[in-house]
Amino acid sequence: MTGKHAMNRRGFLGTTGATAGAVVAAGSFPHPAIANVRDPNEKLNFAILGAGGRMQAHINALLAMKQEGLPVDIVGMNDVWDGGATKPNNGDVRGLYPSAKKVGLNPEDKASVTKDYRRLLDRKDIHAVVVATPDHWHAKMCIDAMDAGKHVYCEKPMTHTIDEARRVAETQARTGKIFTVGVQSTADPRWAAANSLIRSGKIGHVLQGQTSYYRNSNMGQWRYYGLTEDMNPKTVDWKMFLGTEFGLAPDMPFNRAKYAQWRCYWDFGGGMYTDLFVHQLTHLIQAMGVRFPRRVVGGGGLYMEYDGRDCPDVATVVADYDEGCQVIISATMCNDVQLGEVIRGHTGSIMFGGSPADGFRVVAQKLEGRPAPPGANSGEGGEITKPEQPKDDTRALWNHYIGCIRSNNQETLCPASLGYAAIATVNMGVQSYREGKALFFNKENGAITEADRSWAARWEERSDLRGTPNQIMGWNADPLEGSTLTLPDYQKLEGDWVNGVDPAKKA
Ligand SMILES: NC(=O)c1ccc[n+]([C@@H]2O[C@H](COP(=O)([O-])OP(=O)(O)OC[C@H]3O[C@@H](n4cnc5c(N)ncnc54)[C@H](O)[C@@H]3O)[C@@H](O)[C@H]2O)c1
Repeated sequence: MTGKHAMNRRGFLGTTGATAGAVVAAGSFPHPAIANVRDPNEKLNFAILGAGGRMQAHINALLAMKQEGLPVDIVGMNDVWDGGATKPNNGDVRGLYPSAKKVGLNPEDKASVTKDYRRLLDRKDIHAVVVATPDHWHAKMCIDAMDAGKHVYCEKPMTHTIDEARRVAETQARTGKIFTVGVQSTADPRWAAANSLIRSGKIGHVLQGQTSYYRNSNMGQWRYYGLTEDMNPKTVDWKMFLGTEFGLAPDMPFNRAKYAQWRCYWDFGGGMYTDLFVHQLTHLIQAMGVRFPRRVVGGGGLYMEYDGRDCPDVATVVADYDEGCQVIISATMCNDVQLGEVIRGHTGSIMFGGSPADGFRVVAQKLEGRPAPPGANSGEGGEITKPEQPKDDTRALWNHYIGCIRSNNQETLCPASLGYAAIATVNMGVQSYREGKALFFNKENGAITEADRSWAARWEERSDLRGTPNQIMGWNADPLEGSTLTLPDYQKLEGDWVNGVDPAKKA
């Protein structure tokens, strides 16, 4: 993604690297500097990088664990804003000094409370970091932290750009550090349960998944992040917010809206594509059993929220996969009626309820003869599955993550390889929208190129050859289960008439 003022974000990232596939499959080599914390009684020390709104939920989770007597602690606090007397949102604590006090750190202790996260990475007693800065900082902080031997819990979206996502996934694979992206819906057991049904052939060939994140307000999306007078150049280390010297964002004058409502601007975030779509897409592709798309188109526009923002208020991403299926993610920020979450297979559909507690229904398709008219299938009925839900999904993600650190298990609920696939998809949507192009993703080397006729040609050729469909990752039913056609008898009459000869009458 490039900002309004095009710039090269590769400064700290380098240029080439291993393949997308290699990243997923790569072996791991634990960092020698810090031993893994496997003894369940050994205290796990965390540092906080970016103590804004979302981080307070993580601080609360860690403090609650500590209070419950679990061996975890917060020993380092980092943010670029002092934190003000005025509370920007709902009177909650935010910023460096208020957050330090909240966790019992002395604001004067410069080794523990700092505006430069690198000081905390130098500390050998810190085992892990939590990253919840604006998106444009995620990759650099995650890579620096893993290279310094720390485990990382990084908020979604994993990174700001696709190239950064590849580098984070590569760094995780190389260092073997325990890494999770904070997509808390991955702690919802419905996606794994649906995936296991799908792999067993329950809904036949998977053709399409849809999800959405519709919202509405009268103040404009993300303008509810309040601006306060005590956000100013004296209290905010603006240089460190921008990260210009690391190639993260262009230099620009301090601006409270850019600081607090950064999601509205391409230089720091990706609007609803990266802020909201990532949540939905991550669990949808987990359930469907796909990861990297081959072809992506992003549509949308800024149709109403004319308040100086860059990012669209209506957007849709359409991603197509080699497995022979499609994902649609759609939203507007100006109407909150959802599309609903559905996975469509040839012999059945999985219809997810509006809230996790509603579970999902598997509704069979009627397949005899010609198609029913539109509206004949209202998607009602079917078998209901309601896996038991965690009381608090963020805490569930934390419990799992800490278990992974202690058992040296890299299979967190949202590992870097999954984060990379989600970023590749939504950011191709952004690039497609902004450049007006359909795009291809090269799974072998992570390159993005302009799409061409080869996508459609591939499927047309397969049809001509009467080929068989591809199935999703982990498919364990019969290879043709729920994916064959029963052609009508009269189809025998088809075929080219050459020299006036009826092909149906040929011997
Ligand atoms: N999982 C969820 O449900 C969820 C919800 C909200 C936000 N988030 C994610 O969390 C992240 C933070 O969002 P937020 O709403 O808390 O934003 P925020 O603006 O409230 O907080 C970001 C904080 O990072 C600080 N910061 C900026 N640059 C920094 C730097 N270089 N070093 C240290 N601190 C820096 C800011 O001063 C601010 O306090 C985003 O990536 C967002 O997508 C996730």
